[in-house]
Amino acid sequence: MASKIITNNKSYNKVAVWFHWGIGGLIILLLVAGVLMDNTPKDNISLRAMVYNWHKSVGLLILVLSVARLLWKFTHKAPAPLPGIKPWEKLAAKTVHALFYVFMIGMPLVGWAITSTSRFPSFLFNWTKLPIPEMPFWKNLDKAAKTDANDFFVEIHELMAFAAIALILLHVFAALKHHKAGKEILVRMMPNYSRKIG
Ligand code: HEM
Ligand code: HEM
Repeated sequence: MASKIITNNKSYNKVAVWFHWGIGGLIILLLVAGVLMDNTPKDNISLRAMVYNWHKSVGLLILVLSVARLLWKFTHKAPAPLPGIKPWEKLAAKTVHALFYVFMIGMPLVGWAITSTSRFPSFLFNWTKLPIPEMPFWKNLDKAAKTDANDFFVEIHELMAFAAIALILLHVFAALKHHKAGKEILVRMMPNYSRKIG
């Protein structure tokens, strides 16, 4: 196996930090927007289409960034676990982080499956010259089967959103708990920390 690049054993490297806060910010934005967007007036079709198209486009951007982040993670070593962390905490953190990757890639793929089985066209950044391509898997389904598949994917997308909110709350709670206990957990996920510790 190719050896991993080690940048600093104590803190997250700048690229990891920007991936973390960039993707994290976009996900929180989409979770909030996702819940609110159903409230756009049903009779204002162009506004509704614009809001949904932006949701889909930012979601696909998250997919691209998350795949890049995963590739980056495979080739760069994470900092050593914080001193004083119990074995079960280490395992819990690893599990939550792995589940985050499943979510960061799975959630947009399920969203993409919704648009691929929908009767409505979707456009990247609401630009009609850039239709979102359909996934090939459901192309040959008849109309009724496509509608069933669409309902199923909407359901999964919604369940994943609730699971993600729970995971984020758990993650933030754990980070704040360690921070309060005096551990350098938050600062090592900040952009200028590596400069401070050299
Ligand atoms: C949607 C939101 C978020 C996602 C998907 C997410 C995901 C992750 C992942 C996957 C890691 C592991 C490192 C990596 O692979 O890059 C991580 C680490 C970390 N996250 Fe988040 N995160 C989110 C929000 C937050 C928030 C709001 C905070 C603030 C409290 C936070 C604080 C941290 C800290 C401090 C670490 C480093 C943990 C350590 O040193 O072991 N994250 N996060
Ligand atoms: C990490 C990325 C994403 C997050 C966090 C997210 C979040 C959400 C949330 C919270 C909802 C409202 C709950 C629901 O009704 O299902 C929603 C709905 C929706 N999302 Fe996403 N989404 C993401 C990516 C995508 C992508 C990439 C697409 C399409 C390309 C997409 C398409 C949709 C559609 C069409 C709906 C409306 C479903 C309906 O109620 O008919 N999403 N999303």
